[in-house]
Order: sequence, then C-alpha cells, then structure tokens
Amino acid sequence: MDNKPTFLWGVATSSYQIEGAVAEDGRSPSIWDTFSATPGTVLRGATGAVACDHYHRMPEDVALMAELGIDVYRFSIAWPRVQPGGSGPVNPAGIAFYDRLVDELLANDITPWVTLYHWDLPQELEDAGGWPNRDTAYRFADYAGLTYDALGDRVQQWTTMNEPWCSAMLGYVVGAHAPGRQDARAGMRAVHHLLLGHGLASQVIREKAAAQDRLDGLEVGITLNLGVATPASDSAEDKAAARWEDGLSNRLYLDPLLRGEYPADIATKVAELGSPLPVQDGDLAVIAQPVDVLGINYYSSRLVRSTPVGDNGWPTPEAVDRDVERTAMGWEVTPEALTDLLLRLEREYPGPDWYITENGAAYDDQPDANGYVDDTDRTNYLRSHIDAALAARAQGVNLKGYFAWSLMDNFEWAFGYDRRFGIVRVDYETQQRTPKRSARYYADRIAAHKANEAG
Ligand code: FCB
Repeated sequence: MDNKPTFLWGVATSSYQIEGAVAEDGRSPSIWDTFSATPGTVLRGATGAVACDHYHRMPEDVALMAELGIDVYRFSIAWPRVQPGGSGPVNPAGIAFYDRLVDELLANDITPWVTLYHWDLPQELEDAGGWPNRDTAYRFADYAGLTYDALGDRVQQWTTMNEPWCSAMLGYVVGAHAPGRQDARAGMRAVHHLLLGHGLASQVIREKAAAQDRLDGLEVGITLNLGVATPASDSAEDKAAARWEDGLSNRLYLDPLLRGEYPADIATKVAELGSPLPVQDGDLAVIAQPVDVLGINYYSSRLVRSTPVGDNGWPTPEAVDRDVERTAMGWEVTPEALTDLLLRLEREYPGPDWYITENGAAYDDQPDANGYVDDTDRTNYLRSHIDAALAARAQGVNLKGYFAWSLMDNFEWAFGYDRRFGIVRVDYETQQRTPKRSARYYADRIAAHKANEAG
C-alpha cells in the first residue's frame, strides 16, 4: 500500500437514486417503489423507475468518474436486487450488476466503496414490521454477509448504513420518506434496530474477512448526517433547545457507536414520552463494534431557538434564519460550521478515520443549448466546504477523504427530479450526461491537491 494517497477524493451516489431498472433481473420492490407510487408523496409523482438509467449505462458513468480523476466511488447496493424480498439466497442476476461495477471501477483505477443500506428496504420486510421490528436487524446482517461473500475479494471499504437518522425520523416519525409512517414510538424502535443492524453486519463482515485472511486493509464503518445546532441566544431555553437537537440528531448515534451508551438525557426523555429505545441485554456491545471509518454527510447547520412544547410533549426546536445564502433546498450555506463540527468530533469522539462521505448542494441550474451548466453557486459551495474540511484537517482532525454529492443529478427522494445535486447534469429526456462547471472545478482541485501532496 506504499502509493496510497493520504487523502482520498471521491463522488457518491445511491442505488435507488440513480439505477432505474426496478423490475429487472429479479429485483423485488423496495419501500421507495411503494412510497413513490403513492400519490402525494413525491413532488410531481416522480419515481426511481428509470432515474439516471445507471443500471444500463454503468460503464459510461464510470468513464465519467475516471475523467474527473477521483480515487474512490461510494455507491450503494440495492438490497432487493441482491436478496429479493429480504431473505433467502443471493440472486445471481442481481449481484452480477455490482460484480461488473466493481470490476469496471478497478479497471479504471477507482476504489469501490460500498454502502449496504441507503434506504431501499425490501418491501416484504416493511410488511413484516420494517425497522421498528427487531428481526430486520438480523435480516440486514444476513444480507451483508451474502454481499460480502460476493464482493469481499475486491471491496475493502464497507459502510453499513447511510444516515440512520433519516431512515428513522423521516421514514417513521415525520413520514416524509418511505415508508411514510408517522409514529414516534416506531421511530425510536427503528433507531435502535438500525444501529443494531450496523453492529451485527460489522461483526459478520469482520468474521468473514478474518476467516479468509482479508483483515488487512478492511475498513468497516457507518455514515451519519451530522450538523451543528447553535442556540439562538444565551437563554437557558434556547441552549436546551440546541442541546436537544444535537442530542436527537448527533449524540443519539455517535454515543452508542463510539462510546457504547445512549446519551442519558435523550434516552430518558424519549422513554418518558412513551417511545423508549428497545434495548436488550448485550445490544450496546454489539452496536459499539470497532468503527474504522465514521462517514459524515454534511450539508448545513442551524441556529435554533426553543418553542412551546406541543400536544405530544416533544421539544421542537425551531430554526432561526441567518442572513446567509441558501441552496435550492432552503438549506443555509454554513461551511464554517463544518470546521467546528470536525474539531468537535475529533475532540469528543477520537478514534475513527473521518471521511466526509457526502457534501454538495442543489441549485436551480440553467443549462445552455448544449446542456452545459455554468454553476458558479455549486462551485463556490464545493470550494468553501472543501476549504473548511481541509482547515480542520490542518488543525489535527484525522480526516481522510472527501466525497462530493453527487456524481450526477438524480432522484432526490421526496423532491423527485426537481432538485439537482449533480456536478454532472443529466437530461432526463435523453439521459445525456454533461459535466457542469463544478465538475471541472472538482477535477482541477483534486489534481492540484495531489500535485501539492506529491511535491
Ligand atoms: C442525503 C442523502 C442523499 C441525498 C442528499 C442530498 O441526506 O444521503 O441520498 O439525498 O442528502
């Protein structure tokens, strides 16, 4: 591993957002197929049925990545392709796609980085109770093992879950994401079972790797969406609101994973509210498996103030607008907070290698006649956030890499195709890909960083 760069540059995508081909080669429906087919859930009734048609255009998309000069590609695997229905043996035709993808990446000198779960739960498992059901965690570990069996000879980077906060809170509490339930109790059960699934899957992957003498270079971890919640004032109420938000979105995941315990303030409060974390003996030891890599998805941070507690008793901190630019998602552009976040993580949770596994922005792109987008806004966003990440690294944070979200425009969940995060434009009529200005910027930035490190 002599020539391994000390900082890796990548792009990220996820299966349901780009693949399409939802009924091909034995794939079974996922909760996102069901949810997006339900009227009123996704903007303009969009679905991932075709998306970027990546399933049929994969070599072209890998070639695009090679042109950018990236080191590593973070993609996710569709569980319902590999193990239709979420149980039983591997589906050879489904895993074959990822087999080809991994080979194509390696042939282009790009390291494959697998995310096992980026939200496309097999619908059958949701019908059996979904993440609020403890058994789903064991099903997930089984699927992780099947996938490792197929790809572990070539893939060393394994992320179990992408953003369990989103799966639990948006999926089961708020209902804005699949499966669209609105049940706080189910949400807290989902939190615990997602984390348990992570721990069980990490164990399976390490056991299998050890049995095949492949531990050297293996990196197992999880990706969380993290941010900074700053109190809007010095009042005790606003400070408590910020602490609650930090607890529910950051510490509820970081503490069990990296310290082996749930944050007492949050665990106690959610139990009081009738939504306890369903912890059984030994669970926390399973959850707190060694984390080689903690991935951070960073988009924005919030200034928060307290609001009166609503009927259900849950604190609901409210964002206070700052006078800063916003992206097309309405998210404030807050790169300085990324530096603060990384410094805090290194200080309070030292140990893992940190990677920014997603960072990027949606803007209202205006293509010219050739499909080219002169996205200075997205370019500036990337520049300021890469600067912020490298500033933390220069101050001693063990940050090992950065991934732009996303390689190309794609199905942005409840916003369908109306929000574009790509550094490459996708014309959904023709499936034509056209690198935007931000793609050129990113390629140049990577090349300059490498030249600098080499010199
Ligand atoms: C993250 C998701 C990713 C993408 C970005 C914009 O929360 O992980 O799939 O939708 O947001």
